[in-house]
Amino acid sequence: MCGIVGFIGNEEAAPILLDGLSRLEYRGYDSTGLAVYGEAEGLQVVKAKGRLKVLSDLTQGGATVHGALGVGHTRWATHGAPSDANSHPQVSESGRFAVVHNGIIENYAEIKEFLQGKGIKFTSQTDTEVVAQLLEYNYHGGLLETVNKTLQRLRGAYALGIVCANHPDMLIAVRQDSPLIIGHGDGFQMLASDVTAVIKYTREVSYLDDGDLAILTADGVEVLDRYRQRVEKPVSHVDWEISAAEKGGYEHFMAKEIMEQPEAFRKTVFPRLRDGKVILDELTYTPEYLKNMDKLYIIACGSSYHVGMVAKYNLEKLLRKPVEVTLASEFRYCDPIVTEHTLALVISQSGETIDTLAAMREAKRLGARVLAVVNVVGSTIAREADDVLYTWAGPEIAVATTKAYSTQLAVTYLIGLYFADQMGVIDKKMYDEIVGQLLQIPTKMEAILEQSKDIQYFASLYFNHPSVFFIGRNIDYAVGLEGSLKLKEISYIHSEAYAAGELKHGTISLIEPGTLVVALASYAPLFEKLMSNVVEVKSRGASVLGLTVESKGEEMVKIVDHTILIPEVHPMLLPSLDVLPMQLFAYHVALQRGCDIDKPRNLAKSVTVE
Ligand code: F6R
Repeated sequence: MCGIVGFIGNEEAAPILLDGLSRLEYRGYDSTGLAVYGEAEGLQVVKAKGRLKVLSDLTQGGATVHGALGVGHTRWATHGAPSDANSHPQVSESGRFAVVHNGIIENYAEIKEFLQGKGIKFTSQTDTEVVAQLLEYNYHGGLLETVNKTLQRLRGAYALGIVCANHPDMLIAVRQDSPLIIGHGDGFQMLASDVTAVIKYTREVSYLDDGDLAILTADGVEVLDRYRQRVEKPVSHVDWEISAAEKGGYEHFMAKEIMEQPEAFRKTVFPRLRDGKVILDELTYTPEYLKNMDKLYIIACGSSYHVGMVAKYNLEKLLRKPVEVTLASEFRYCDPIVTEHTLALVISQSGETIDTLAAMREAKRLGARVLAVVNVVGSTIAREADDVLYTWAGPEIAVATTKAYSTQLAVTYLIGLYFADQMGVIDKKMYDEIVGQLLQIPTKMEAILEQSKDIQYFASLYFNHPSVFFIGRNIDYAVGLEGSLKLKEISYIHSEAYAAGELKHGTISLIEPGTLVVALASYAPLFEKLMSNVVEVKSRGASVLGLTVESKGEEMVKIVDHTILIPEVHPMLLPSLDVLPMQLFAYHVALQRGCDIDKPRNLAKSVTVE
């Protein structure tokens, strides 16, 4: 949600800010803006509703705005519709302060009323403008005192970049519950919501913690913690290449990321398999701890939650322990039953999703131990969890997740095998078989991805369907949830996923001639049951696109309209193969419908507001 970037150094800031914003656009893209301070020009602010291209055209790629200090913003609207006035930076009445913000100032209305009472005129509907105006109101010549006084009044979540025309040698960064990193350069410093925005300029980054305030100058950074004590932040070296965050010849990031899945799976899983064993060096759970574990609580949002749905089936089968999967946004408010014997498994690609973060903190407060599965190194969830297993998917740029989902799944398999082995509840034959089959997954994934043309054909048949139902049983149902989400979020077709047996309890009334049903029937023990459900929808006129394993193909083709076949694999690992055709189908349908695939309407990748 909203991307912010800032630069202070000895060269023109605007082109660097625009470049940084181009890498943050996945966080929100309804309007953009920048503020740059130049000695001769003073504080110049350019902002506009629309994509970054509008801003880039307005400033001729940054060439019309001069100065070596500035902040930039790409917005996902919360308070106030997308408009020129509501775009950031928000500026104080005198034009002295410019502020970019990611998050929500919860008490903005009260502050606004107070400032209006003092005669201050507001020009936007944003919560952010109160920060700029309050800075101005509190300003008596000292920048740090002003910022501190202002922050004391704010409630909510914020990452802020602040520029003051009276202090052109300083750029201020503040973090409270919204991500913010510092990029350390030689003769310049940057701030950003995410390392992707700075990596072209520097690979040395540090991560701010909640309550931190950083003062950036061209030559260095001073960080003060929430008590305003000076702290040394460790500097990490980012070792992935900038090309990992570029399209590399693909039309869309999503297409590239779908194709990267076999490699991402290899990188996530293979180094953790040694001599036929799952080795998770990162974890220190004792067999006693695991045996005494009363419940595994999986907490996540969106697609990460769908990974949790798959994991529930697998982990309960392997461990014979209760596994509860809960939406992070519900967890905090449902009075969850958590004890010191509860393990909370928190799943998040970004590691910054505010609901997941808040739920994790609540689980910890209630006494749970937290194991996080995270993709973004150094993210807040990764830093606050008791233990972390990283998914090595690399940067995921498309808003709709694909490779992060696949690697999260992979990590849940590893957790299941590792725990079961530690607890001594898995027999060696089964363990060896699953470990052996894990090694074959990437090759099988590649075989499915080669069928992309067939799936493109099915998409061309069905892309105009107004409504699609995904049905499945057991793990097929869990994958159906993800298939349905992928389709609706990027193609805007209404779709729902149902446990096939549930259809008859109401939803089947929506099936009429021509309705598309995607039937996932890869889980062999329930193949026949699922096919009975398929016959039921067929006899009400539905068109059915079926998915099953090769050995069941012959049976399926007799009943459905079109069949997608996937290679045979251990049932526990099926979701890793099932999901690929679902992703490809959603992608090709969206392509046919002319949708903006990487940046679907109303969405943003990292959901940092509640
Ligand atoms: C859907 C999608 C979202 C995320 C969700 C959680 O394609 O990407 O549903 O899965 O917003 O995000 P993370 O995993 O970053 O916590």
